[in-house]
Amino acid sequence: MKIAIIGSGYVGLVSGACLADFGHTVTCIDKDAFKISALKRGDIPIFEPGLESLIVRNLQDERLTFTTDFAGPVGEADAVFIAVGTPSRRGDGHADLCHVYEAAREIAHALRGSTVVITKSTVPVGTGDEVERIIREECPHADFAVASNPEFLREGAAIQDFKHPDRIVIGVESDLARQVLMQVYRPLFLNKSPVLFTSRRSAELIKYAANAFLAMKITFINEIADLCEKVNADIQEVALGIGSDNRIGSKFLHAGPGFGGSCFPKDTVALIKSAQDYGSSVRLVETTVAINDARKRAMARRIIEAVGGNVRGKTIAIFGLTFKPNTDDMREAPSISIIQALQDAGAHIQAYDPKGMEQARMLWSDVAFRSNPYDAAENASAICILTEWEQFRALDFKRLAKLVATPIMLDFRNIYSADEVTRHGFAYFRIGAASRTGPAPTNVSPSEQEAVA
Ligand SMILES: NC(=O)c1ccc[n+]([C@@H]2O[C@H](COP(=O)([O-])OP(=O)(O)OC[C@H]3O[C@@H](n4cnc5c(N)ncnc54)[C@H](O)[C@@H]3O)[C@@H](O)[C@H]2O)c1
Repeated sequence: MKIAIIGSGYVGLVSGACLADFGHTVTCIDKDAFKISALKRGDIPIFEPGLESLIVRNLQDERLTFTTDFAGPVGEADAVFIAVGTPSRRGDGHADLCHVYEAAREIAHALRGSTVVITKSTVPVGTGDEVERIIREECPHADFAVASNPEFLREGAAIQDFKHPDRIVIGVESDLARQVLMQVYRPLFLNKSPVLFTSRRSAELIKYAANAFLAMKITFINEIADLCEKVNADIQEVALGIGSDNRIGSKFLHAGPGFGGSCFPKDTVALIKSAQDYGSSVRLVETTVAINDARKRAMARRIIEAVGGNVRGKTIAIFGLTFKPNTDDMREAPSISIIQALQDAGAHIQAYDPKGMEQARMLWSDVAFRSNPYDAAENASAICILTEWEQFRALDFKRLAKLVATPIMLDFRNIYSADEVTRHGFAYFRIGAASRTGPAPTNVSPSEQEAVA
């Protein structure tokens, strides 16, 4: 099949590379000429494990091309995917659909022959109707159908998710769309990946409902973690205990500093807004968003309390900036609110992230970015792990203890056990369990020792 993909970001690039790898002829289109010329050279603008080699291989095999030109590739395509961004609209939090509608208008002018236009971007219920209306208005005689095919890939595991999905959701209102999408996903049909054909509106809602449910699950375990701290229980034991129940499941039961990323924050708010517009508010989701927003700043207060109530003039080391490991995506990362709150309280931040620092530099000019965790820890009054990158799982605590001003470790991803950390003299704080102090640290002043205790 000939496929055009509008928008060459995380979703467009991963979808384009994987569909080319299935054997289709794919053109990825983006209006960002700088991005497209980099992609043509094989320079990938995002970090996603395995993506670079997949793109380079398919470029070499001439199944994948990149362009800023709509007319040629859209005119020839059997299927045109819209994979542009749908960020929160400034002011009211609705999904901003301007890029989707702009893409629809450009597609309309380029259509030739029978084409299926598929929305892969996350869009509110009814957007498919509007895309259809726009194309029909711009090009009344076009032979086209509009479908919804929401994407469920996770950054950091995107290629695996695209090629081995839990399910593929396809919302169609016509036979043409059904037939074309069956051809597009034929390799996955053959692999027995579950394919769910639904109405277009159901498909649009499935994506938001799925993300809202997962955000709710994370928020639930975060609240239970707070309760664990009060009653001297351990969230990891509780999560294991409830997650072993098949009806609940163990995934998304990891307590942490609150959810972030390019999807959950904006999608939960967009769902709330469109539900309100339909007079059917989703109060569980509203509460989830409010709890999560408050949680991120509360995490900064924990750090401040751990160093004795005052961070003014002190250095705090931040290990991990991205919203999760294996991505360079900084969108809505908890680190943003936490660092902001620490800076507001007068702290000096030294940070290290294996892949996110290029993006992070665009956010902060007043954070000292270091090239490894040990440099970031130098002279720090506390170390805080915000992202569970693999390389933070085996830190050299002996070395860290010599570098820091005060041996305090706040592990907001629960990647260590208290024993592993406290035996090196660190006070250890994690989410959902009582904090633990180690043997009296040797390289701290008496006042700082008080703060540790
Ligand atoms: N990132 C994820 O993990 C993920 C997962 C599932 C679904 N989604 C959804 O997929 C959509 C895309 O997300 P993303 O993270 O890939 O976004 P992104 O911001 O990384 O990429 C969007 C791209 O679209 C381009 N673009 C915008 N308007 C255009 C136009 N009119 N013509 C051509 N190109 C245009 C931009 O230049 C940009 O390169 C969003 O709706 C998002 O919610 C994202």
